Amino acid sequence: MSETAKPKVAFLGTGLMGQPMAERLLAQGYSLRAYNRSREKVEPLKASGAEIVDSPGEAIHQADCVVLMLADAPAIREVIFSEAARRELSSCTVIQMGTIGPSESQDVEREVDAAGADYVEAPVLGSIPQAETGRLIVMVGASPEQFEQWSPLLQCFGSDPHLIGPVGKAATLKLALNQLIVSMTGGFALSLGIVQHEGVSVDQFMEILRGSALHAPTFEKKLPQMLSGDFANPNFPTRHLLKDVDLILDTAEEMGLDASGLMGMRKVLEKTILRGLADADYSALFDTITSES
Ligand SMILES: NC(=O)c1ccc[n+]([C@@H]2O[C@H](COP(=O)([O-])OP(=O)(O)OC[C@H]3O[C@@H](n4cnc5c(N)ncnc54)[C@H](OP(=O)(O)O)[C@@H]3O)[C@@H](O)[C@H]2O)c1
Repeated sequence: MSETAKPKVAFLGTGLMGQPMAERLLAQGYSLRAYNRSREKVEPLKASGAEIVDSPGEAIHQADCVVLMLADAPAIREVIFSEAARRELSSCTVIQMGTIGPSESQDVEREVDAAGADYVEAPVLGSIPQAETGRLIVMVGASPEQFEQWSPLLQCFGSDPHLIGPVGKAATLKLALNQLIVSMTGGFALSLGIVQHEGVSVDQFMEILRGSALHAPTFEKKLPQMLSGDFANPNFPTRHLLKDVDLILDTAEEMGLDASGLMGMRKVLEKTILRGLADADYSALFDTITSES
């Protein structure tokens, strides 16, 4: 790669987040090969100039950098550690951007290193609208040198990537933030349910909440979905929030922290999934909280 040439990118995982993120790289002039297990989700990128391939190995072949936006650590292993894909990994950098646990990320780093490649973790806060407009908050677990090298690419996703520390630290911070997503949304949903159940005006509830120290912007984002009961077209599906809660519980246990407060929300999310809302927006937890069971 010459000093000025943009790195050649292999983009693996073009689901809800990966698709708009890959579009951002294409719009910034990166040459990109894309792979997704379900072919129909990657096809739209062809119109923007991506080369669509049938296997992760083909995507990784001669790439300078491999961006992963896959569901979880098992998906990462399946995609990049098959014999064929692993062979192609040497001398590129794997940038892992999904939400996985810190120890999972360190395990992936070890295997990537053993395959002769470099590893950077860069989980993101924000959802589809932020991915589409390059306004994600990108948290990076890497060395300062890796951070400097890959910042121009990461800036396509969010203008101000943050170096958090070595691999594992950004994954930890991402889980700490997602703990707030589930706790705050669950707390708001229950309060809204209480208010509605007793016929107290939702407008008055919101007016008083907005004037207090308890208010959070995320409540405003989720209120319309909770009031309408329309949880379709998710930004962030319930099944991924349950995955994150399990990662948070495991990580807290490793740290010796008492996370029993989160167990109740785990039950609510599990019930939401059993009620057929795994692919719905996670605000569907309100539907579970307010449904008689
Ligand atoms: N959505 C959000 O708002 C958001 C925000 C920040 C972070 N995240 C995190 O970012 C990651 C991706 O999220 P997303 O919302 O884009 O999820 P998604 O739409 O469910 O996409 C998941 C991707 O992983 C692939 N995948 C899953 N299991 C696989 C396997 N066993 N083998 C090969 N590929 C597999 C899927 O392929 P198929 O298409 O074939 O299923 C798809 O490409 C997750 O870790 C999520 O927690 C999401």
